[in-house]
This record gives sequence, structure tokens and C-alpha cells, in this order.
Amino acid sequence: MKKEDFIIVAIDGGAASGKSSTSKILSDRLGLLYVNSGSHYRALTWAILQRGIPPHRVDKIEAFLKFLEVDYKIKGREAHMTLGACVPAEEIRSPEVNQAVSTIAAIRAVRKFLLPRQRSYVEVARQHAFDGLIMEGRDVGTVIFPEADFRFFLLADEAERTRRRQWEGQVDSIRERDRLDKERKTAPLIHSEGAIKVDTTPLTLQEVADKLTGIILAGKK
Ligand code: C5P
Repeated sequence: MKKEDFIIVAIDGGAASGKSSTSKILSDRLGLLYVNSGSHYRALTWAILQRGIPPHRVDKIEAFLKFLEVDYKIKGREAHMTLGACVPAEEIRSPEVNQAVSTIAAIRAVRKFLLPRQRSYVEVARQHAFDGLIMEGRDVGTVIFPEADFRFFLLADEAERTRRRQWEGQVDSIRERDRLDKERKTAPLIHSEGAIKVDTTPLTLQEVADKLTGIILAGKK
């Protein structure tokens, strides 16, 4: 890839649809900075719960955000959001966070807080000489980067997604999260026109990654 060919790849889809594993492979293959935007919502949810703020207390959450310092740290090809001096790790995948995250992600002030920070990763990727940025989530191709060079929407049937979560040893009510994520007013999870839909149910991870890599490389010619 030539240096001037900086690309933005957006990957959206429901819980456990294969976004993270696929994005990591593409990031390695194509030299892209990888950002998991779900981890931003998870980190905020974790910090809010740590302070004993209930997920529905929008007033307290807004007040909390006013004083929150957010930055990033790059590890390998991944950029992680930091909260003050803390780099949230595995605790953001706890059952408590799984249960509260979609309620907190539906709060307009939370999304408004994260949006400019998520967009700023383009500059971060350029500054660190990556060949592009790959970000995954629910609204990456619709709201964060509607002009992304490549927009994908991954699907998988629910039984398969539940099986994947169990295999990872996670307690996660994916159906309920998907319902909340699809029904919220701000930046809902939708398949937007123009995003390439890929059903990952019958495919292995390598097959999904190969398919997306092929589309990206063909589109770059
Ligand atoms: O991707 P992951 O399942 O870790 O995301 C956790 C939650 O964060 C989602 O269920 C959704 O509520 C929220 N999210 C979002 N917008 C994104 C990424 C994640 O609302 N772009």
C-alpha cells in the first residue's frame, strides 16, 4: 500500500457478530490502527458503576463526564482509551458492564462526549504512521465515519453468537443488548445503505477476514 493511500474502514454489527476478531486480523494485514469503539462505552460504563452511579441517572452521568479526562494509549496496532491515569482492561467485559452498557450508550450526552474523541483517531493513526484506521462498533459507518472508504456490516444468527460468547466464557445477554442498541433514538444499530453486509454464520474467522481483505484490496486498485 502506498503511503498516500490512507484508508478508513468501518465495521458495524450486533454483539458477538465477529467484529473484533475480524478487525484485528485486518489491522495486522493492512497496517491499520485498530480501535474498538465498544470498549469506549464499556470503559465509561465501568467508571460510572465504580462511582456508584446508577445507569439511568442521566443527570449524575452528565456531571461525571464534565470532569472526566480521556486520552489514549497505543499498544501494538491497537489504540486504547484511557480515563485519567487508568487504562481499563478486562474489567470492562464483566457481567455488570455487559448488563449496563447499552443503557449508558443510549444517553445522548455520552455519545456526544465520545464522538469527537472517536473521530480524532484518524489523526492519531496518521501521526503514528499507520496506513489507515479500522474502527468497529454500532455507528461507525453511519455516524462516526459515514464517509469511510469501506463500510461493512457483519451479521450472524443468534444461536451462533451465543455459542461464541459462551466459548469466550462470557455472561452476556446479546439479544437484550441488540434490542436496546437497535431501538435507541441516537445512533441506533442499523444496516445503512452502502455498507457491505456479510453473514458470518457459516464462515470461519479466516474466511470472513479473507473476504473483507479481498474487497478492500480490490477497492483500492
Ligand atoms: O462492541 P461491544 O459489544 O463491546 O459494545 C458494547 C456496547 O457499546 C454495545 O452493546 C452498544 O451499546 C455500545 N456501543 C455503541 N456504539 C458503538 C459501539 C458500542 O453504542 N459504536
